Amino acid sequence: MAYLQPVEVQSIMSTKPSFQKPEGGKQPPQAFNSQTDESLDQRIATLLARMSLDEKIGQMVLGQPGDQAPVDALADHLRAGSIGAVINVVDRETVNELQRIAVEESRLGIPLLVGRDVIHGFQVVMPIPLGQAASFNPELVRAAARSAAEEAAATGVNWTYAPMVDVSRDPRWGRIAESLGEDPLLTADLAVAMVEGFQGTDLSADDAIAACVKHFAGYGASESGRDYATTNIPENELRNIYLPPFQACIDADVASVMTSFSDLDGVPATANDFLLKQVLRDEWGYEGFVVSDWASIQELTTHGLTADDRGAALAASSAGVDLEMATDTYSRYLAELVEAGSLPVEVIDQAVSRILRTKFQLGLFEQPYTADRSDRAESVRQRALDVARQAALQSMVLLKNDNEALPLDPDKTRSVAVIGPLADAAYEQLGTWIFDGDPGLSVTPLAGIRELLGKNSEIRHVPALATSRSRDTSQFAEAVAAARNSDVSILFLGEESILSGEAHSRADINLPGAQAELVSQVREAGKPVIAVILAGRPLTLSNVVDQLDAIIYAWHPGSMGGPAVADLLFGVESPSAKLPVSFPRVVGQIPIYYNQKRGGKPPSPTTVMHIDDIPVEAPQTSLGMTAFHLDTHYTPLFPFGHGLSYGRFEYSDLRLSAPAIPIGGSLGVSVTLKNSGRQAAEEVVQLYVNDPVASLTRPVRELKAYQRVHLQPGQSQTVNFELHSDALGFYGRSNRLLVEPGLFRLWVGGSVEAELGAEFQLLANPASGSER
Ligand code: BGC
Repeated sequence: MAYLQPVEVQSIMSTKPSFQKPEGGKQPPQAFNSQTDESLDQRIATLLARMSLDEKIGQMVLGQPGDQAPVDALADHLRAGSIGAVINVVDRETVNELQRIAVEESRLGIPLLVGRDVIHGFQVVMPIPLGQAASFNPELVRAAARSAAEEAAATGVNWTYAPMVDVSRDPRWGRIAESLGEDPLLTADLAVAMVEGFQGTDLSADDAIAACVKHFAGYGASESGRDYATTNIPENELRNIYLPPFQACIDADVASVMTSFSDLDGVPATANDFLLKQVLRDEWGYEGFVVSDWASIQELTTHGLTADDRGAALAASSAGVDLEMATDTYSRYLAELVEAGSLPVEVIDQAVSRILRTKFQLGLFEQPYTADRSDRAESVRQRALDVARQAALQSMVLLKNDNEALPLDPDKTRSVAVIGPLADAAYEQLGTWIFDGDPGLSVTPLAGIRELLGKNSEIRHVPALATSRSRDTSQFAEAVAAARNSDVSILFLGEESILSGEAHSRADINLPGAQAELVSQVREAGKPVIAVILAGRPLTLSNVVDQLDAIIYAWHPGSMGGPAVADLLFGVESPSAKLPVSFPRVVGQIPIYYNQKRGGKPPSPTTVMHIDDIPVEAPQTSLGMTAFHLDTHYTPLFPFGHGLSYGRFEYSDLRLSAPAIPIGGSLGVSVTLKNSGRQAAEEVVQLYVNDPVASLTRPVRELKAYQRVHLQPGQSQTVNFELHSDALGFYGRSNRLLVEPGLFRLWVGGSVEAELGAEFQLLANPASGSER
């Protein structure tokens, strides 16, 4: 399966000449001449006209070497033209040899797509996508993807399976780590930044790789957060919440789309012609190609949609899945289906044309080989490490900071107890999907703190638990002694990489093992206790939150997590990240997300009663008839957009450019932001909107804009936004995009709980109409 360890690739090229990038690009020796002036369409048509049915189907097949050496496994298929793409080969010489066989030894010499999951970095690992989302910083996310592309492209990889844009409201789901959180706008913005980072401005550049937006669509809504489980998403919610990030990536020219494993409203996504035809092709006009997920075509039969592989191949290809990943139903059945008249050959032609288009755009016909770039490797790596550090810094969220426990003063901190299973775990800080990640490049938090404090402070390191899951408390006494003898304790807690990611969902998302007990015992030492939590998802922290003076949520921060967290702990930098997802108090609150509907009986602080306070034989109606749980609060523990800072940000003077704007117009929104704290800091200013009365009930708040603003102590700045009426649109009852006139509310502030608000009117504009 895809999530197993990468295949170890032997260098099989040692006795053959290595491929140097020839001057002006190497002309492949095959009969097809790609270096003509023909337009792209013409080139595709010319090539297609020369292809046999089997050669066409070959382009729709992705070869994977499995446990064998790639050349041994794939050479014959390449010569026969029965494979058009390969996955999981990341050794440059091996990739070049595969390309050489395809280009020089097959009849038509069509080069290969070479795919790999480059999800958050390559050898240098960036924070997990959910962590990157906490930066609310598209430029940084773009830079992280650019660095990953540079590293990956040097191995011959030319196609990644990212970004994952599955909006996720369920922290139990292991793949929330790969997501960009619960908000459609933030997800869309950051996903587009990733596409731009991977693909660059010119897909044929030697450091650009084709991106693949996934998993189309609805995967993030799997029932109970169990990976691969069914999803049921009404079309309206699909269009308002789940689809916008995909559409944004389509608009940004993402090269490919991957289908989801999931069963969407009874039609598995991999054969879902509503998604793949109506939405993707007819409504969005997408011209790139669609790849299945790993074995998801064959799984149509497991789902019970088709009876066998032949049926699965027919259902997926007819729905518009152009390329099959991992299974071989296309190579076994498509020809037969065409010959039997069950599948029009035009479907095949269209799929092949789309795939060839990407190969042309990648410049593979001109240059299928990857030159030795070792001369650039050092600078590429250094750039990646710099971006990784910056990304880690901007992804770590300061959740709480009682009595300004942080930052610690490096000059006054004479001794620190560094405790916990994740303080010095080079591999575990990298997170899920790090096939090519090099733990040898990791700087751990312990190393980062040592480096920052130098020799002036004593550092007492006690892992206390062998892993986050361990229940063996035998080292706790040592940890408590270290805490007692030190000025401060810093606990590195959380969950290892393996506890999140694909097929790694959890039903209980408390800190695993004996970590909560460790917190209690260290607390007893009577010194300040800071927690840094490394995790692939929001964990439920209710059982430890009150015992901690400060909490930094570091996610899985990647290679440079250590120096970044040291800089934050000791105030070299101020935290600036914000939560891209709500943090539940208890797992029973899930799904809990900020952009919920108000409902008919919304709870408020005055209408709830806790289970412990209910009098005996209380009448049914005496507890307040509103939408809350009796045994927890109705709000999350930490809300969307929340994140503290060492600056102190004050918002004032919210102004609108006009009390009303017409549909088609824009509203200017400005606010004064002041840093009245003692430290320079960066704030993510957020703008939320609510449409209180509409033809379809609307979320209580929706993020519409955000901006990072850096302020020195005492500095003020006017922050300006422009809100176009298009941003107020939504898919209405008929599932068409509407902009409805009427009253709107907006708020600007440092989280979804922003209080500074205003109202404006959106006026009907007879010229433009409201339905678009
Ligand atoms: C995952 C995809 C991934 C693919 C290839 C699948 O199991 O769901 O996200 O891109 O494997 O490794």
